[in-house]
Amino acid sequence: MLKRLSIAVVGGLLLATTVAGCGGNGDDAGSGSGGGGDDKITLGFSQVGAESGWRTANTKSIQESAAAAGIDLKFSDAQGKQENQIKAIRSFITQRVDVIAFSPVVESGWGTVLKEAKDAGIPVILTDRAIDDPDTSLYKSFIGSDFVEEGKKAGQWLVKEYEGKNDPVNIVELQGTPGAAPANDRKAGFADVIKAESKFKVVASQTGQFTRTDGKAVMETFLKSQPKIDVLYAHNDDMGLGAIEAIEAAGKKPGKDIKIITVDAVKDGMTALSEGKINFIVECSPLLGPQLMDLVKKVNDGQTIPQRVLTEETTFTPEKAKEVLADRKY
Ligand code: AHR
Repeated sequence: MLKRLSIAVVGGLLLATTVAGCGGNGDDAGSGSGGGGDDKITLGFSQVGAESGWRTANTKSIQESAAAAGIDLKFSDAQGKQENQIKAIRSFITQRVDVIAFSPVVESGWGTVLKEAKDAGIPVILTDRAIDDPDTSLYKSFIGSDFVEEGKKAGQWLVKEYEGKNDPVNIVELQGTPGAAPANDRKAGFADVIKAESKFKVVASQTGQFTRTDGKAVMETFLKSQPKIDVLYAHNDDMGLGAIEAIEAAGKKPGKDIKIITVDAVKDGMTALSEGKINFIVECSPLLGPQLMDLVKKVNDGQTIPQRVLTEETTFTPEKAKEVLADRKY
């Protein structure tokens, strides 16, 4: 951020003190990256929190990529609270950062603060999670996964796994944070695929807040309340890993007595998959940093950037996990 302080003292009087703000959204000379040596782009980033292995890897990717790109990163951890994210965004606006990026804790309730950023001429990039506001002019781009597609991939694996079998399949579901895009979309995508066959029944579905602790606690209650559980679908690896502890404590074998599908493919999840404790993982990549920094530079230069940047992802079986585990970076 470029700050120029001009002080003119005439006849012992302080006449003028001017602080010129940073370059903004291409509507102000320099657009934040031309000129003096300290004229770095400043990015204000509001992160969801540190709820999962995925999130930790995502934070690392953003911090390392900003440093590598020479971008001055103002990083704020919202600790899972939307109100903290709104405060952070308002503070970035006051500080006149060049670009704001954030991963929204929940989908709704962003209109007012994003309008404030727009009015201040500061471009916003959504990272990892979408918002449900129909006004797409509130942000320049959304970079991240297709969570509905992830849920569908989980459902498609299940359909194939039980192909030709007619007995009822009782499924329990550990949902992510209520109101978060990955929780809403992974649930919807999965339900959309399995509804084609009446043998699939979601007998219990509850939030595990994307954390290992809550995943374990909720799975314990499922095991007590449900007489027969065939499958666990967890919206992320961490909840699945917590649930594995509960299943083992109940004297059952995860991956055999109860089949397990998760999303993310972080190292701990992939290790459990390679050991046969998880049966299938849908990948969701947290390594969004390099692409985000590229978009930040472009938008700061006044270039038009794509409204949607989709992350490329795959799926993993235990065999495939064994092949790639040693090289897994996160
Ligand atoms: O938004 C991405 C999701 O958030 C990840 O799948 C989950 O692990 C994280 O907490």
